[in-house]
Amino acid sequence: HVFRDAKDASVYVAQQIAHTIRERAEAGRPCVLGLATGSTPTTIYDELVRMHREEGLSFAGVVTFNLDEYFPMQPEELQSYVRFMNEHLFDHIDIDRANVNIPDGTLAPEDVLAHCLEYEEKIAGLGGIDIQVLGIGRTGHIGFNEPGSSRESRTRMITLDKVTRNDAASDFFGEEYVPRRAITMGVGTILESRQVYLLAFGEGKSRVVARTVEGDVSNSVPATFLQLHKNAKAIFDEAAAAQL
Ligand code: GLP
Repeated sequence: HVFRDAKDASVYVAQQIAHTIRERAEAGRPCVLGLATGSTPTTIYDELVRMHREEGLSFAGVVTFNLDEYFPMQPEELQSYVRFMNEHLFDHIDIDRANVNIPDGTLAPEDVLAHCLEYEEKIAGLGGIDIQVLGIGRTGHIGFNEPGSSRESRTRMITLDKVTRNDAASDFFGEEYVPRRAITMGVGTILESRQVYLLAFGEGKSRVVARTVEGDVSNSVPATFLQLHKNAKAIFDEAAAAQL
């Protein structure tokens, strides 16, 4: 779907999310959302906050799983995804904090494997993710699944690509301060979501968008694995879609 601009695209996705939240609430079932960070989804979060305030959209029955977190990372640090999600969404809605899940960047490295298995088990225990929101990195990563990530990969610690660390440099006031590792849901984890929305806005994403949609499915651009998903929708603005 190519929208006139990022705002229209984000409102569309927010409406789909709100619809599913209400549907699950009526059925008395939790709604499980997979959430992303970065600049791309922020307008979706703004719109969900607006719907909460103005239309009474309740997140009381919503459980969230974020895709990724830098490692190591303390929650109060400027660049932490815990802080990002609080500021953009969770501080402004009625979600139960016990229902918020974000990979833990504070663990000792030897405890990460068990944490990742637990993350997977928690998702599975809830019956899987209903809607997964994704951005895309210039390397073709989804979450932090950098080139080389397999279709079957699960939640794990990964090493960040040089391009990704370069893109994050301004957030960290210098590339040398960008963590070398991160914890991310796997490609396999993401592909098990019932519905996926891949979003990309702006000319800077147009090249990787064209490779993702029209290129061969390959672990050199992990986002291409979304071509294998039955319910993955690509949501772009005109600039991001320019090379299609
Ligand atoms: C980070 C996140 C990804 C996100 C990507 C794109 O790498 N871990 O989940 O998709 O950034 O960021 P932006 O939306 O700011 O372009």
